[in-house]
Amino acid sequence: MAEGDRNVAVLVGSLRKGSISRRIAKALIKLAPEGLHCEIVEIGDLVGYNMDLENNVPAAWAAFRDRLRKAEAVLFVTPEYNRSVPGVLKNAIDVGSRPYGASVWEGKPAAIVSMSPGAIGAFGANHHLRQSLVFLNMPAMQQPEAYVGHAAELVDDNDDVKIEGTKTFFTDFMAAFEAWIERTARN
Ligand code: FNR
Repeated sequence: MAEGDRNVAVLVGSLRKGSISRRIAKALIKLAPEGLHCEIVEIGDLVGYNMDLENNVPAAWAAFRDRLRKAEAVLFVTPEYNRSVPGVLKNAIDVGSRPYGASVWEGKPAAIVSMSPGAIGAFGANHHLRQSLVFLNMPAMQQPEAYVGHAAELVDDNDDVKIEGTKTFFTDFMAAFEAWIERTARN
């Protein structure tokens, strides 16, 4: 990471090996402007949130919180489960939000890319996620919106976007996110 780069944590809302969301996340990272240092932060080993565990914090929770504290912005790339946010991603958000008053999300600029192999592009997940970001006090980029439909056909095995129009859209989206971070980040 070069000096002056923005440290962006990328959270993927799917755990499976063949995840299309993960491939889209990697494609977005490749198309990010030079000033954004984007890295996927894993969420699969975070045990389900239970406040009792705050007395003896699981190592995976502590590592996740430490990693997110270093991030200056967060990019969410997620599928939709039953018209909402997949439980694993919601759990990561919950883990990062506690203990009360020590949220790792506080004030950090965010952007959301939702995806689906279907036509609607996970609009429901995208907007349910936005609801949590309001409470977490994360300024979420409004435009451009990214509801990626028919997502299975978009990215090849090298994590490159196959369709020129989509590549342009992803490039513009990441450039807009950089501008959004510069406008809304606290430091
Ligand atoms: C889905 N899927 C789905 N798709 C959608 O567009 N809207 C939805 O509400 C749902 N609901 C849903 C629930 C559950 C439990 C599963 C497992 C799947 C389909 C989903 O978009 C598809 O499996 C994606 O490929 C998941 O993303 P990854 O794993 O490929 O990144």
